[in-house]
Amino acid sequence: MAKKILITGGAGFIGSHLVDFLIENTDYVVTVYDQLEEQVHGKNDNLPDYLNKEARFIRGSVTNYEKFEEVVKSNDIIFHLAARVGVGQSMYQISNYIDNNINGMANLLNILVNSEHNIRKVIIASSNTVYGDGKALCPKCGVIYPKLRLPNQLKKKDWELNCPDCGGKVKPALTDENTPYDPSSIYALSKKVQEEMSLMIGEVFGINIAILRYFLVYGPRQALSNPYTGVCSIFSSRLLNGNHPIVFEDGLQSRDFVNVSDVCQASLLALNNQAANGKIFNVGTGIPITIREVAEIITDKINPTLKPIYNQQYRVGDVRHCVADISKIKNTLGYDPKVSFKQGIEEYIKWIELQGNVSIDKTESAFKELKEKNLLK
Ligand SMILES: NC(=O)c1ccc[n+]([C@@H]2O[C@H](COP(=O)([O-])OP(=O)(O)OC[C@H]3O[C@@H](n4cnc5c(N)ncnc54)[C@H](O)[C@@H]3O)[C@@H](O)[C@H]2O)c1
Ligand SMILES: [Zn+2]
Repeated sequence: MAKKILITGGAGFIGSHLVDFLIENTDYVVTVYDQLEEQVHGKNDNLPDYLNKEARFIRGSVTNYEKFEEVVKSNDIIFHLAARVGVGQSMYQISNYIDNNINGMANLLNILVNSEHNIRKVIIASSNTVYGDGKALCPKCGVIYPKLRLPNQLKKKDWELNCPDCGGKVKPALTDENTPYDPSSIYALSKKVQEEMSLMIGEVFGINIAILRYFLVYGPRQALSNPYTGVCSIFSSRLLNGNHPIVFEDGLQSRDFVNVSDVCQASLLALNNQAANGKIFNVGTGIPITIREVAEIITDKINPTLKPIYNQQYRVGDVRHCVADISKIKNTLGYDPKVSFKQGIEEYIKWIELQGNVSIDKTESAFKELKEKNLLK
């Protein structure tokens, strides 16, 4: 009998690509369990058009224990992606993020420990945000782990990171999995708790669990209408609506943008490889891209007359740099990211252009909300 994979959050951006990838590249029967959250899918109750017709779809929340239990019990493998994903938003919708992300994870573990099931592997979607600013190099002190920049530094528009030991300026380094946790938002904290709970329960009960820490994933289908997440989508939706993209700080903050197809590659490697069990892996490219570069590339392609605005403001909790060291996943699982940012962004913009005017630019209202909560300064 064909083995069965369950993807929670499989109607979302990354999940839906994983559904396609597994259907195309394996013999697994794929089931999606997703509540079709309004912020991602809009008000209507229809399934997104892009969802693979060969996948079975069950609508429900990971917070609904009985329903979730039933779905878990009829599968062999789980990719757990269902989550609320807005970093800034998580700072004022605290209960909601804890409920969906932490209690949802707790429900899954509770089911795995207490119910009869055939699950032989669980792969959990975590995030680079658990690192905060990650790893850096101080010319005087060597490897250090900078702390979140404080308001009195940011008020002076002094954006770069300081050494926690000598106070001097530091250079970003590639962040490896041994970097200590330093979450700076409720979202990041929820991912850290997901990781710790699942590794603990996995070890005690002998459940095969692997954690993938995705860096900034981009690609087609990232909700254009969700102003709380996905910088490529936020800039694009501004431009499509005739507005300048707005870049925080000076735009020289850097991130690791990983194409969603490479995330699918990493996911299948983690599934097929026993060496992934009980371990955490970064999923990125190892290549820093500044937000300025992202804004300029997308503006050039969509509407070069709407130059990006560098607003010299900052969002509380934003990190300055975070780029993956991918040696561990390369060496252990044979991961090799294939899509360059330039190539990936071209494909992404082609997709955006096909979306017509379906996206509503909600950036202003999201900024207003952040301002009201004193999170945008
Ligand atoms: N996009 C990124 O750059 C990124 C980076 C790091 C980690 N991640 C993680 O990857 C996963 C998927 O993210 P995404 O970018 O595809 O987000 P997304 O919002 O597009 O997809 C999440 C999906 O989960 C569903 N969902 C939310 N709460 C649910 C619940 N309680 N029960 C069932 N379904 C629920 C939503 O309806 C949505 O379809 C998340 O766990 C996220 O934390 C994403
Ligand atoms: Zn120092």
